[in-house]
Amino acid sequence: MLSRIARLGAPLLFLVSCVAVTGATRSTEERVRELLAQMTLEEKVGQLVQYSSRDDMTGPADKSSITPKLKQGGVGSMLNVVGAEQTRRWQQIAVESSRLRIPLLFGLDVIHGYRTIFPIPLATAASWDMARIEEAERIAAREAAAAGLHWTFAPMVDIARDPRWGRIAEGAGEDPFLGSAIARARVQGFQGDNSFASTESILACAKHFAAYGAAQAGRDYFTTDVTERALREIYLPPFQAAVEAGVATFMSGFNDLDGTPCSANAFLMTQVLRGEWGFRGFVVSDWASVKEMLRHGNTPDLRDATRLAMNAGLDMDMQSEAYGPHLAELVRSGAVPMARLDEAVAAVLTMKFRLGLFDDPYRFSDPAREKATLLRPDHRAAARDLARRSCVLLKNDGTLPLRLPGARVALIGPGADSGDTHIGTWHARGQGGEATTLRAALAALLPADQFTFAAGCAFTGDDRSGLAAAKAAAQAADVVVLTLGEDHTQSGESTSRTSLELSGPQLDLLREVHAAGKPIVLVLLAGRPLMLESVLPLVNSVVLAWHPGTEGGPAIADVLTGAYNPSGKLPLTWPRSLGQVPIFYAHKMSGRPEPKGPHDRYWSRYIDSPTTPLFPFGFGLSYTTFGYEALRLSAATLRVDGSLDVTVRITNSGPHAGEEVVQLYVRDLVGSVTRPVRELKGFEKIALGAGESRDVKFTLRPADLAFWRADRTWGAEPGEFEVFVGSDANAALTARFRLE
Ligand code: NOJ
Repeated sequence: MLSRIARLGAPLLFLVSCVAVTGATRSTEERVRELLAQMTLEEKVGQLVQYSSRDDMTGPADKSSITPKLKQGGVGSMLNVVGAEQTRRWQQIAVESSRLRIPLLFGLDVIHGYRTIFPIPLATAASWDMARIEEAERIAAREAAAAGLHWTFAPMVDIARDPRWGRIAEGAGEDPFLGSAIARARVQGFQGDNSFASTESILACAKHFAAYGAAQAGRDYFTTDVTERALREIYLPPFQAAVEAGVATFMSGFNDLDGTPCSANAFLMTQVLRGEWGFRGFVVSDWASVKEMLRHGNTPDLRDATRLAMNAGLDMDMQSEAYGPHLAELVRSGAVPMARLDEAVAAVLTMKFRLGLFDDPYRFSDPAREKATLLRPDHRAAARDLARRSCVLLKNDGTLPLRLPGARVALIGPGADSGDTHIGTWHARGQGGEATTLRAALAALLPADQFTFAAGCAFTGDDRSGLAAAKAAAQAADVVVLTLGEDHTQSGESTSRTSLELSGPQLDLLREVHAAGKPIVLVLLAGRPLMLESVLPLVNSVVLAWHPGTEGGPAIADVLTGAYNPSGKLPLTWPRSLGQVPIFYAHKMSGRPEPKGPHDRYWSRYIDSPTTPLFPFGFGLSYTTFGYEALRLSAATLRVDGSLDVTVRITNSGPHAGEEVVQLYVRDLVGSVTRPVRELKGFEKIALGAGESRDVKFTLRPADLAFWRADRTWGAEPGEFEVFVGSDANAALTARFRLE
């Protein structure tokens, strides 16, 4: 039979295979079951094996050819294969040469855009704009899908409270409530309505499960020591939110957690993810993380690592060569139950059916669509809009917005002319050369005799030869726009830093430019908080622009000129010094929070620094001002089965239209265990015209007050609560209620 089919040629062959495994009247579940019944043990294992193309991005790839493995049905998924042509080529091998013609799943790190690059995720978190974050991921998915991809390894939903860790750039910051909202928005953006009926949605992947962001000392890939309480209250909520949004896949973290590497962690993958949250997708390892268990030291060899990982609930092995060589034998010997293997394979096949790949394995690989979709003008426009909404105005003495007519502007600093700096870390197929830089954007706005540019120095190294020219440019100008910060190579995976002072000659550049005596607007290009205590007194205004993406230049220019009134708010607490780290607003209370008298030395303090941050969580200025008043609660008591409305009146008391992120924080005054001094429990971004007022209403329910109680159950406890409403984590308007 097989040899007869072989003579029919490739297209017909594919049709025959469809007849074998598809059928409009059968449910996906039935189709998966039928296919499973046809598979050999080796073919089942193959579905759980993922290889990178040679064009590997994050570590050493297997150098032996994978084509023979593909032909044997020994590969279920590939990463780092991109482009409609390339994916089609690899897919053809899988569906035309393997016995069961099961299509491959193609995955890539599409972290903040595919070709049109949006600001880094930490930046878009600063927009607090869920609709636009979702839209950005929809665009990323549309572009990625047109390039043949089915799956992104995003969103990274790791809570991070240590800016030494370079991957803080990839997440949503320090807060589980904001992080959960963003996790939902990003999953919805990538996956659409979860039907995958259109070719504009791709599978999302919540990563890195779990607490990868808690790496000790901020050192990437390092060990973590997190209590179950911190895990459940801080690190897990965004993952749970991703599950609730229907996320298709999870990725296990590189780290160990309570002594067990995440890739073999049954507590995480079986008890919590599947048991408590009901997740029905599949879990992929991080790059070679099954193999890395040997270095962690919880297992003596790769065979045993495979057994541990598989039995703990890890379904797919990314690039570690563990499942491929060892899993079949483990199942044969009974060390891994066949039922567990079938469960994992079924989860992978289900996604392939849901994506429609059995009906058309080339559904996503369409060169014409790819050409028409990448970098579409509306995509670039959306990137510009989100980039300006992600900017945070940290300081302004009135120098901003710039009054351009007649003004001579000197643009100085590293990064101002670099597309690579603008598009930042993990930029998929984005290209620096396609970015509109700040230099290009300002040059387009100003007559040539009003605009000069001098890089001054690089972000790193010690070449100071450009400082004098930079100072001269500043002297000849009326106002200086100075870019400082960190480059894309200083931010992202494996870029932990022990100093967050401005690197290289940047401080010297700042001093030189300052000596010219002209007003300075600092534009900070960075993937994390940098230390600004000594910088702030030397500059008039500060715009935190992050790594802002393909349209970063025009977006920053919009903010500088006032074409857009900045509305971003910090998604993390900004330290004064690295010595304060970890510093975050939702900390527990010390027993000695303040001195008992003028001579008390024994309280929770530093002797060389205030304990307060430079800028609080949620902070960000505007060109207008907002007043908060008339905080009122709908009742003095919240019943355990009821709800409570918290209403506040916001007035735009300044001269410009603007947007404000209204924030609600709650404190549980007495608990069976100590509770954070404040926790974000609501936010709303509103637009108000000059002089306009609006009431904003939040509804609190007992579930919003839940935590991991002393008896190790999740729930709220009756008692007294305080609410705070305002424009950052120091919100001062307050009221109290009781939960009964
Ligand atoms: C390692 C990273 O930790 C992970 O986030 C990424 O998805 C994989 N490499 C694949 O590139």
